[in-house]
Amino acid sequence: MRSDELCFCGSGLTYGECHQAVTQRLWAMKAKGAIVPRPALIKNKKQIEGIREACRINSLVLDKVAENIRVGMTTQDIDDIVDSYTRELGGIPAPLNYEGFPKSVCTSVNEQICHGIPSDKVVLREGDIVNVDCTTIVNGYYGDASRMFTFGKLSPAAEKLVRVTKEAVELAISHLEPWCHLGDIGYYISRHARENGFSVVREIGGHGCGLAMHEDPYVCHIGALHKGMILPPGMVFTIEPMLCEGTSRFVVNKRDGWQVSTADGKLSAQVEHMVLITETGVEVLSK
Ligand code: MF3
Ligand code: CO
Ligand code: CO
Repeated sequence: MRSDELCFCGSGLTYGECHQAVTQRLWAMKAKGAIVPRPALIKNKKQIEGIREACRINSLVLDKVAENIRVGMTTQDIDDIVDSYTRELGGIPAPLNYEGFPKSVCTSVNEQICHGIPSDKVVLREGDIVNVDCTTIVNGYYGDASRMFTFGKLSPAAEKLVRVTKEAVELAISHLEPWCHLGDIGYYISRHARENGFSVVREIGGHGCGLAMHEDPYVCHIGALHKGMILPPGMVFTIEPMLCEGTSRFVVNKRDGWQVSTADGKLSAQVEHMVLITETGVEVLSK
């Protein structure tokens, strides 16, 4: 594409003013054997503003859950809070009807790894650890993040699992910089988990996000330093490791086809942040 043509991304700017510099640098790296993203995965200014706003609203929904969640509540109560507050803020809960998912949020309790379906039969108890994973659509843009909530006194193992999972995400984020590699994320997360005696789910992971809930690339939480796709400024994706107390092998509920639990029934924890690679570092959109 010529510098004076309108950019392919729809920004209204010329290619020269928009995606040209980053695309040319990626092509040069690709010629030397690097794995590089498609230029369309690199968000323009307008898209970043929209995604930032969707993440802001999504965080407000998670804050609302944090204010209200308590022992004795059901996971359906969490769904009610998320659905109504998301709409009150002008957003749409993305999980509802996504590939047939029946609820507005994922609530994964104890041995559930992810995609837990809210239910009026699941009551939150003292000692439980629960992941609440919200995804919100605002003006067509997506924000996706999840937090762990715990109740009362936890077992030492549960306490440590939740702490190490949060640390693993923070550690990976602290190493992000423009033009680093996707494998760096999985390297730091899996190393921190392993050093603390926990396993990491390999087959379910993070993802590009912003214009759709799930975009390329797949973000594996097991990886090797300086390997995998290059992450230039403008890349937006989630980091959402699932750490397990025992085996990382899992089973998918046969009746609903969604809920993923550890094969050994031991605990699993997850924390999800959505990040933007910037010219100088990283912006945590889901803060
Ligand atoms: N929020 C989840 C993620 O982090 C996706 C949920 S899809 C659903 O990728 F259908 F289960 F809601
Ligand atoms: Co999510
Ligand atoms: Co996600």
